[in-house]
Amino acid sequence: MSIAIETATVKPRRAVLEMPEYHPPLAGRDVLRLDFNENTLAPSPLVMDRLKQITAEGLTKYPEREPVERKVAAHLGLEPAQVLLTNGVDEAIHLMCCAFLDEGDEALIATPSFFMYDVNIRMMTRGLVKVQADETLEFPFERVLAAISERTKLIIIPSPNNPTGATASRAQLLAVANAAPHAVLMADEAYFHFHGETVIGDTATTPNLIVARTFSKVYGLANLRIGLLAGNAELLKYLRKVSSPYNVNGVALDCLSVAIEDDAYITWYADQIRVGRERMMGGLDELGVSYFPSAANFVLMKIGPKHAELAAAMRRNGVLVRDRSADPGCDGYVRITIGVGDQVTRGLEALRASLNEIGWKRERVSESASQQVSGEREFE
Ligand SMILES: Cc1ncc(COP(=O)(O)O)c(C=O)c1O
Repeated sequence: MSIAIETATVKPRRAVLEMPEYHPPLAGRDVLRLDFNENTLAPSPLVMDRLKQITAEGLTKYPEREPVERKVAAHLGLEPAQVLLTNGVDEAIHLMCCAFLDEGDEALIATPSFFMYDVNIRMMTRGLVKVQADETLEFPFERVLAAISERTKLIIIPSPNNPTGATASRAQLLAVANAAPHAVLMADEAYFHFHGETVIGDTATTPNLIVARTFSKVYGLANLRIGLLAGNAELLKYLRKVSSPYNVNGVALDCLSVAIEDDAYITWYADQIRVGRERMMGGLDELGVSYFPSAANFVLMKIGPKHAELAAAMRRNGVLVRDRSADPGCDGYVRITIGVGDQVTRGLEALRASLNEIGWKRERVSESASQQVSGEREFE
C-alpha cells in the first residue's frame, strides 16, 4: 500500500520548530538493561497482586486521581492540596514550563543534566540559560546563583543529577530558592531514595520551592508513568489547572496506592543499590576506570575516545550501557546503571571483557577541561 504524502502549509509555533527532540535508544533492550537507570528487577509484589485484580469494568472508567493523591500526600506528610500526581516527572517538567514560563522569561539549568529540561523549556521560551559544570562535574552552585537575573522565572535542579550522580545540598537548594523569590525552583528528586537527602519538608517554609519525585526508579513503575509535584498549595493550584484531569491512568493509580504501602520493599531495593554502587565503584577502581562518585543508581565512567566502542562491546557482551559523550562536558563518558545482586557482577564482568576487547588503556591526563562552556546564555 502506498501512502500519499501531502505537504502541509500550516506550521507550528516558532518554539516548536526550534526546540530540540529527544529520541532515547529504546530498541532491542532484551539483554541486561544497565542503560536507563530503571529498577532492574521488579516493583513490589503487592503491585503484581493488584494488577491481577484489574477488571473489565474498571478499564471502562475514567481514572480518579484525587483519592490516590490524598494517600500519597499523607505518605509524604503533606496536605492533598500540596501534591499533584503526574504522568512521570517528564510530564511534571512539562507542566512546570507550561504554568510558569512566558516567552521572554528565563529558565535556568546547570548542565550536563536531564535533556527533557531543555526540550520543555525551549517549547515555551528562548530564554534557556545553561550553567555548565567545570571538569569536576560537581553542581556549579556559585555560578548558578550568579546566573539568576530579574527575568529568571524557573530554575530546575536535579539532586542527584543525571547523568553525573552529583548532588546539590539542601543548603544550596534553599539558598538558590531564597536568592530568586520571583522564580520557582523545581528540585528534581527522581533519584532521592538512593541518596536520602530531600527538601520536601522545606516546601512548607519556602513558597517558591516545588519538589518532583518519580515512581519510575526505586518503585520499578517506569512503564506505568507516574511521578508527582509537591509544594506550596497556591502554586500547585496553577499546575493542576494546566494538567489534564486524566493525566495518570487508573491502572497506574491502583498500583501506586499499594506500592506506597510497601516501604519495606523500597528500603530493601534502595539498600541493594547502595551496596551495588560501592561494589561497582570498587570494581572500576580495580579496572583503572575513573568515574564520578555517584549518589544515584548509576555511575558515570570516564572511558575516553573509545566510548562508543565500549558501549557496542558491552552490548555484544549482553549488557546495555549509555554513551553520554554527546552531553555537554561529558565527551568520553559512559553511564552504567547499578542493578541488584549478581547484575552488578555481570556488569563488571562485561566491562572487563569489553575493555579488553577494544584494547582500552587508561587516559593519562584529563582532557575534558578544554571542552567546557560556561554560563552559556542562549537568550540574547
Ligand atoms: C533527573 C531525572 N528526572 C526525571 C526523569 C524522568 O522520570 P519519569 O520516568 O518519572 O518521567 C529522569 C529519568 O531518567 C531523570 O533522570
